[in-house]
Amino acid sequence: MTTTTSSATSPTKSRATKSTASAQSGETARGFTGDGSQNQLNPLFARAGEATDFPLDELPATESLPETAYQIVHDEAMLDGNSRLNLATFVGTWMDPYAAKLYSETADKNMVDKDEYPQTAAIETRCWKMIASLWNAPDAEQAIGTSTIGSSEACMLGGLALKRRWQQDRKAAGKPTDRPNLILSSAVQVCWEKFCNYWDVEPRYVPISEEHKVLDGSSLDQYVDENTIGVVAIMGVTYTGMYEPVAEIAAALDRIQAATGLDVPIHVDGASGGMIAPFLQPELVWDFRLERVASISTSAHKYGLVYPGLGWVVWRTTADLPADLVFDVTYLGGHMPSFALNFSRPGAQVLLQYYLFLRLGWDGYYKVQKTSQDVAVYLAGEIASTPCFTLWNDGTDIPVFAWQLTAKYTDKWNLYHLSERLRLKGWLIPAYPMPDDLADMVVQRIVVRNGLSRNLAESLMHDIRDAVDYLDALTSPMPTEGLVSTFTH
Ligand SMILES: Cc1ncc(COP(=O)(O)O)c(C=O)c1O
Repeated sequence: MTTTTSSATSPTKSRATKSTASAQSGETARGFTGDGSQNQLNPLFARAGEATDFPLDELPATESLPETAYQIVHDEAMLDGNSRLNLATFVGTWMDPYAAKLYSETADKNMVDKDEYPQTAAIETRCWKMIASLWNAPDAEQAIGTSTIGSSEACMLGGLALKRRWQQDRKAAGKPTDRPNLILSSAVQVCWEKFCNYWDVEPRYVPISEEHKVLDGSSLDQYVDENTIGVVAIMGVTYTGMYEPVAEIAAALDRIQAATGLDVPIHVDGASGGMIAPFLQPELVWDFRLERVASISTSAHKYGLVYPGLGWVVWRTTADLPADLVFDVTYLGGHMPSFALNFSRPGAQVLLQYYLFLRLGWDGYYKVQKTSQDVAVYLAGEIASTPCFTLWNDGTDIPVFAWQLTAKYTDKWNLYHLSERLRLKGWLIPAYPMPDDLADMVVQRIVVRNGLSRNLAESLMHDIRDAVDYLDALTSPMPTEGLVSTFTH
């Protein structure tokens, strides 16, 4: 069935086609001159196509005016939420006007076409070298890295390198390679489940608990064996924003190596924290300062502050990225190594990242991230002082924190109801269950990003208190039928 922009009737394809066709011919549609050229006085929102129906699920049979097509798409996009009020996402929703200008100037660049766009390719290399230094690579010249479409691709590439290195070592030792496993927290982001599924790697999830809120290395010896390709450590767990103590995980693996001889590398998933920790916690040792860290990935479109989609992955040395995973693409008559899942993808975001590196420098990034953290700590403090809430963490790692409903506080409402009430004001603040072993626990989370000002945060707290007052004043419990988390990590 054809759905349409109009709710009045259910028109047929031919009717929709006729209205757009007549707009083009200029023969019958009002507002067009007899010779078919557009009459500029044609009233906006009342011209053919806008006033009549477009088929939505089928390619229209004929052309329409650019103004009409633009307006229809523009208006539909208007129905999306207000991204600045979306406190569920980690992904950047604001860049400055120079970035917007650069974006529109460079939207046509294809990242894979190093021959056509050699300067974009050179800038990509400059960017990952800057990032390698930020992550304390012992020698940025020996490191190797690439941009990706986001953290998911970056994590896949990191995981693939771990798997291939393990396979090569096993083959060289004449041992089987058919049962690789990867050790991760039960609170990993879904991209790691995908990695294990798509590349036939057994995931070994270490459950988090109230005592061990993150993977901390305490029970790793129960999970590691000769088929372990690596351990994933997360800098900024998606569920809560907490850092996993990479140094403690590395120390646990050192002990395992001393006892068993197994040398297990770490990939750090720094999707968010990779662009926070270098600025806000420079003393925290989580990166290439730890010998065991073979590779690190991040999302540039999160706290790298670039519009989606861009990520980065860097390996400590070229030896950590098996050469047989890298393809050569032609580059100015020479060769450029390429390790990517995609072929064509946008190059503009790489230029936006470089713009921000030049524009902000270390000081600028520090100020932006510190401001977000201050807002997160302020909000976490306000939530903590509200009797109905119990904080899970306080926003001092990445500017993200989660809380629970205080035990036995009420039987009238829960955090899903609060989430729904806040939507009425435009705020998107998801409630969801924690992973497997804590699945009975529901938390709510706020991600503070550049653009959530202190002023907006105060308005948010006002709206949260209003919503709580409303829910507390109910004389009977809110219905719970059909109340499920629609949020995915
Ligand atoms: C820890 C972690 N890893 C990976 C990802 C996937 O990132 P992307 O959306 O850039 O693919 C996320 C996204 O939230 C994340 O939080």
